Amino acid sequence: MFEIVSKESLAQSITKFVIRAPFVARKHRAGNFIILRVDDHGERIPLTIVDSDPKEGTITIIAQTIGKTTKLLSMKEAGESLLDVAGPLGNPTPIHNYGTVVCIGGGVGTAEVYPIARALKNAGNKLVTIVGARTRELVILEKELREISDEYIVTTDDGSYGMKGLVTNALDGYLQRYGRVDGVYAIGPIIMMRAVSDFTRPLGIKTFVSLNPIMMDGTGMCGACRVTVGKETKFACVDGPEFEGHEVDFEELMTRNRSYMDLEKQSLEKFDGEMASHQCKSHAKEAAHA
Ligand SMILES: Cc1cc2nc3c(=O)[nH]c(=O)nc-3n(C[C@H](O)[C@H](O)[C@H](O)COP(=O)(O)OP(=O)(O)OC[C@H]3O[C@@H](n4cnc5c(N)ncnc54)[C@H](O)[C@@H]3O)c2cc1C
Ligand code: FES
Repeated sequence: MFEIVSKESLAQSITKFVIRAPFVARKHRAGNFIILRVDDHGERIPLTIVDSDPKEGTITIIAQTIGKTTKLLSMKEAGESLLDVAGPLGNPTPIHNYGTVVCIGGGVGTAEVYPIARALKNAGNKLVTIVGARTRELVILEKELREISDEYIVTTDDGSYGMKGLVTNALDGYLQRYGRVDGVYAIGPIIMMRAVSDFTRPLGIKTFVSLNPIMMDGTGMCGACRVTVGKETKFACVDGPEFEGHEVDFEELMTRNRSYMDLEKQSLEKFDGEMASHQCKSHAKEAAHA
């Protein structure tokens, strides 16, 4: 069992957990992820390792609640435990001193890009960070990213904070002010990673994206995370999760990720129904004892 050492809400439906997982903490490198199971009825879900503390034997994960398993996770409290934490999985991000790099995080992808941004900064790069969120309340890790960035830019869709617009508008603005950059890392919704890749392709800027297909075993055996990159079949869990954005077939990834949407919706509705009925029974018992 893997103890939850602490839990903190970062934004509406985005929660940070510090989990005791000494082996994973010792081996973690930027770009790795874990596959966890909340309990023995739970699905296996992949989450990026945002940070690790080998001395304390802990790792940090940040999860957005979008379906049944992430909801179940969000209901866990410090002191409780998770059934399984497998990892570190995936290839570490190749970290070099490229010169000037732009790290772009969209939504909860900001948590996923943070360890990479930090490693790139430590390798001597000039770091420009662009964070995109729907609205001000969903901007996460601002303090942490400002601390390591040479330039930090926020965009919100509704203009409630920073620049109104998309991360590609901010990247365009930066390039107009300073000319070329030497590399771009973009992590977030597929549509955002595709837009960034489409923007940088004609400019010839090397662009890496971290793909988020459905994953099951995380070891290259089940084929669930199949993606097409440069017309070749790859398994994101063992060949990625980072790939060159200009080579990725984003349309196929979007279609494959939508495959189980009806089942996922049903599963969340069933779970919400069970929780509501459980709460009703608890209230009825309390009333009977009162
Ligand atoms: C390498 C990797 C790293 C990730 N890191 C993070 C992270 O740091 N923080 C975060 O909030 N999310 C992260 N995700 C996405 C996260 O795994 C999904 O949000 C989660 O699995 C949803 O599960 P659910 O049961 O709550 O939702 P469901 O209702 O089951 O699914 C909602 C959507 O989540 C995605 N999803 C569902 N099951 C899986 C699965 N087994 N594998 C991958 N995607 C799935 C699908 O797009 C699906 O449509 C990552 C995904 C990958 C592949
Ligand atoms: S998750 Fe099974 S092959 Fe990648």
